[in-house]
Formats: sequence, structure tokens, C-alpha cells
Amino acid sequence: MFIFPKLHLLLIFLISLPSPFLSTTTPINIWPKPRFLSWPQHKAITLSPDFTIISPQHQHLSASVTRYHNLIRSENYSPLITSSIKLTKGYTLSKLVVTVTDLSLPLHHGVNESYTLSIPIKSSSAHLSAHSVWGALHGLETFSQMIWGKAPELCAPVGIYIQDSPLFGHRGVLLDTSRNYYGVEDITRTIKAMSANKLNVFHWHITDSHSFPLVLPSEPSLAAKGSYGPDMVYTPEDVSMIVQFGLDHGHTGSWGEAYPDIVTCGNMFWWPAGKSWEERLASEPGTGQLNPLNPKTYEVVKTVIQDVAKLFPEPFFHGGGDEVIPGCWKTDPAITSFLSSGGTLSQLLEKYINSTLPYIVSQNRTAVYWEDVLLDAQIKVESSVLPKEHTILQTWNNGPVNTKRIVAAGYRVIVSSSEYYYLDCGHGGFLGNDSQYDQQGGGGGSDGGSWCAPFKTWQTIYNYDITDGLVDEEERKLVLGGEVALWSEQADPTVLDSRLWPRASAFAESLWSGNRDERGVKRCGEALDRLNRWRYRMVKRGIGAEPIQPLWCLRNPGMCNAAVHSASEDL
Ligand SMILES: *[C@@H]1O[C@H](CO)[C@@H](O)[C@H](O)[C@H]1NC(C)=O
Ligand SMILES: *[C@@H]1O[C@H](CO)[C@@H](O)[C@H](O)[C@H]1NC(C)=O
Ligand SMILES: *[C@@H]1O[C@H](CO)[C@@H](O)[C@H](O)[C@H]1NC(C)=O
Ligand SMILES: *[C@@H]1O[C@H](CO)[C@@H](O)[C@H](O)[C@H]1NC(C)=O
Repeated sequence: MFIFPKLHLLLIFLISLPSPFLSTTTPINIWPKPRFLSWPQHKAITLSPDFTIISPQHQHLSASVTRYHNLIRSENYSPLITSSIKLTKGYTLSKLVVTVTDLSLPLHHGVNESYTLSIPIKSSSAHLSAHSVWGALHGLETFSQMIWGKAPELCAPVGIYIQDSPLFGHRGVLLDTSRNYYGVEDITRTIKAMSANKLNVFHWHITDSHSFPLVLPSEPSLAAKGSYGPDMVYTPEDVSMIVQFGLDHGHTGSWGEAYPDIVTCGNMFWWPAGKSWEERLASEPGTGQLNPLNPKTYEVVKTVIQDVAKLFPEPFFHGGGDEVIPGCWKTDPAITSFLSSGGTLSQLLEKYINSTLPYIVSQNRTAVYWEDVLLDAQIKVESSVLPKEHTILQTWNNGPVNTKRIVAAGYRVIVSSSEYYYLDCGHGGFLGNDSQYDQQGGGGGSDGGSWCAPFKTWQTIYNYDITDGLVDEEERKLVLGGEVALWSEQADPTVLDSRLWPRASAFAESLWSGNRDERGVKRCGEALDRLNRWRYRMVKRGIGAEPIQPLWCLRNPGMCNAAVHSASEDL
């Protein structure tokens, strides 16, 4: 619950010009689609057997160059539909030369991620230039997606020029590892897939009231007592490996949320018999909230913040703050007497924020809180205690309405609307002893028992505009980006890949180059084929992304489309 850190043109005139299906007949399918791509002649050449990538020395860039070199040599990507690309004979592509303007730029929010990539005709060198290492990593990924064929005959397009950069700087996936545990290799596989989709923030919701798998050097008892078991923890070595892995894959690190055991209502039954919903102790089974009146709370919380800030170099630090439930605090005698002598629940939250936010800032971090701290109907604080220069709010309710409220109040916002971006929705409920299921036809009502039903389809996700309704340019600039979220009440490693992919890919393109074509018209229809092909390529690369169409549709371009389509329909 409460708590913590960030571990954490424009005319694409060529590939999409003459026929709506032409893009499906070339082997080049870059996901997310670049902002600008020109490839007038549809010619290709083969890679030289001693093809190399030449780049400046840099810890993370050099690691990526090795990785991409291996991928290019071993992927043997064969497009699912035949293509008619003319191979130019007489010379081969022998190198990709990478140049970076400023090697020292750290991977922080807002770093310049742009790159240009060209493979000129009649030249044996391709060129990738970027302002930062992190842009160069994106360019390497793009280059890898341009290669097809079976070694030793690997092909690359020639006469191609790409200029690319993201629309939004914060493009994240939130993974909850508290409700169910994921192994380190599940996390690294996810980061790898994110990097292939040019997503750059792994929001690691490490801990919650269900389990505390993070082993902290100064508070080891939290994990010793709070994890699901000794083999279901993340050690400082695991975290450090994951952070390094993230940097090698262009990730701004990750963040986690921790929950020490100086709590009220810990491990009580979440919804006492005979009580109303308003009197519940938590919004779902698994109770416990920090006690803001207990001085010990702040000793532990500060130690945790300090440890986590050391583990995660990222400048953002998540302070949690969502779903504070009054009933839980009210189980504590000190809190009830505070309330009966005129204190309010919001004052309790304010005390907590007052005592922890300056500490987060003292660690040179920007605090991120869930929107609840400002917008909750009951327990919230005034914006005067949330300095705008040190605070970002993450929204999850009411779609564009709350995004607007947050930016109108002057805060930067990260959008993870549950109506569009929650990947766990639509899988039924998880509560037991629900008598409706013992009745014929009792199916959980229209939402099938899932509070945030329906399932968010890739189209729903792709279609969502995170700046919807913001006309003021200053307000639009406060939207840093978004995160799709996989809460894990009903997910674990067995379903991880298929819950995330390819829906997180749809999100990735929508935040990278947008969901509209060069005329400003929504391009969901055109994206389908490309996403489908990218999904097959991810599967070949070892990501268990779920299918979105019968294979027949890819093999028969256009044949699975609806008969009626007007541009205005999906505007
Ligand atoms: C990023 O760097 C490129 C290349 O140096 C430059 O053209 C572009 O203006 C930069 N973008 C921003 C937002 O500063
Ligand atoms: C929180 O800090 C603000 C600003 O310093 C102060 O006015 C307010 O009284 C504090 N609130 C609590 C509950 O301590
Ligand atoms: C915060 O940044 C300042 C200035 O760069 C530095 O002097 C200080 O040591 C940093 N503090 C922490 C806790 O990293
Ligand atoms: C199931 O719910 C009923 C009330 O509908 C309650 O009386 C009973 O104790 C519950 N059983 C369990 C096992 O929780």
C-alpha cells in the first residue's frame, strides 16, 4: 500500500503509399513504427559474413552491440508472407557504424532518445547516429528488426532512411511481484521484451500487503518474515543484476513499493462479517497499513527508503499512497483517540507525507504518488504539502477526467488508467465463498466478477489518447507518459508473457509514434497486420505473446477485415 521507490514527418509516405496492403508484402516491419521512414526503391543487399557493428566504448552500449550482433547472426527471421524484394548483387553490407553525440548522458526521464539510421545505396556501411547511448540502443533494435533471412544469407534493405524519436518520455510496464512471485529470469525476460518494444521504464511494484520479497540490507527481517518463502525473495545481488540488465537494455531502472510491518490491522480478516463496504479494512484480502502515529514507522520507512535508493539509481521514487482504507486505521487505539479528539483521517495522511516526502527529496529523488493522495474522496492532502517540483502523480481512475484534474492542479502525471491500461482485468474475481456462483446462471454479473472488467483488448489500449481533452499546451507537457499495469492477484510466471504481450506492444507504439497516421486518422486497422507480424517475431525470440488472429489472416492480407469501415468510425 503506502510506500516506495523507483527502482525502477512525419509522412510515412513510402511503406504505406500505393496499396493498403503493401506494408505486409515487404519484410520490413518495425515495431513500434518509426516516426519517419523512407525506402523508395524496395531493394535489399546481403550482410557480409564478417559483418560488424562499430561503436564507441561504453559499458551499456558495448554490451548491447554484442547482444545485437549475436541476435542478428542467430535470429534467422523468416517473414510469414512471401516478399518480392530485389537483392542487389555485387557488394555486401559489412558494417554498421554507431556514433553518439554525448556518451555521458544518464538514462533519466527526458533524456534524448532520438536516432537516425540509414543504409545508403552503393555503400557497404550503414550509419546509426544518436544523441545519447539510449537513443543508439533504440536504433540497434530497429536495425535488428530490418534483418531477415537464414544465415549465412541475411538480408537488409538499402536506400532506407529512418528518423525516429518518442512522443512521450515515460513508457512503462508495472509488474506486481507481491501478490504472486516471479523469478528473476521472468523479470529479465520481461525487460528484454520491453526493450525490443522501446519501452523504457520497468515499474517494479515489489512489495505490498501480501508479501515482502525484497531483502533489504538494513531491514532483513521484512523479507525474512514477509516473503512467501526463502526461495521467493529478491536479494540485493538479484536487484543489482536486474538494474544492470535494465541499463543494458535501455531501462531507466525500476521502482518498487515496500511495506514494513509497523502497521495497523495487519493480517486481519479484510471485511468483517456484518460490516458494510465502507467499514472494510482493505479493498481486497491482505490487510495492513502503516501507522502514521507510531514514531517507529518513520525510523523503518526512512531506512527502507535509504536502502532502496541505494539499490535503485533511478531519480524517481514511488511513495505509494493509494487506497488508504479508513477501517484499517480505525482498528488502532491511538488513531481512534486521535480521531475522537478532533483529528481527521486526512491529517494522518498529511503527517505521513510531511514526514517522508522531504526525506525522499533529501535522497535527491522526485516522489511519485498514486493520484489518491490528492484526489481521494475521503483521505487526501492539500496541494500545499505536495510541492510540484518534487512530486509526480500517477493516475488510475476516471480516464481522461483525472488526468485533467492533475495537470490542471499543476502536477506532472503518469497515466495508467485502469479503464484502458490494466492488463489484469476481465479474468473474473478471486474471492471465495461467493454464493452467486452456486446459482444457475450466477456468473458474477455483467463484469464477470472482475472489478475492472472487461478485458482490455489491444485495440482499447492502442486507441487511448493519454492527453485526451487537454487543449492547453502547458497542460499537455505535464503528461510525462504512461504505464500499462499487470497486477498479479491472478497472474504469475505461467501466464506472464501472454498477459503482457502483445498488448504492451500496442501501448508501446501508441506512446512512441502515436496511434494516428500522417493524416491524423486513427490507424488501428493498419496496425493490426503489423502487430500480428511483430507478435510472431516476438514468439520466435522467446516471448510467449498471445495470438490476436488466425494465421490465415496474415497469410491472406485484407481478407479478415470488416466490410464496412469509415475513417470517422475510429477517430
Ligand atoms: C535530440 O537530439 C537530436 C540530434 O542531436 C536533435 O536534433 C533533437 O532536436 C534533440 N531533441 C530534443 C527534444 O532535444
Ligand atoms: C504538514 O506540513 C505543512 C507545511 O509545512 C504544515 O502546514 C502542516 O501543519 C503539516 N501537517 C501536519 C499534519 O503535520
Ligand atoms: C544529492 O545531490 C547533491 C548535489 O549533487 C550531493 O551533494 C548529495 O550528496 C546528494 N545526496 C544524496 C543522498 O545522494
Ligand atoms: C460464507 O459466507 C457466509 C455468509 O453468506 C458465512 O456465514 C460463512 O461463514 C462463510 N463461510 C466461509 C467458509 O467463509
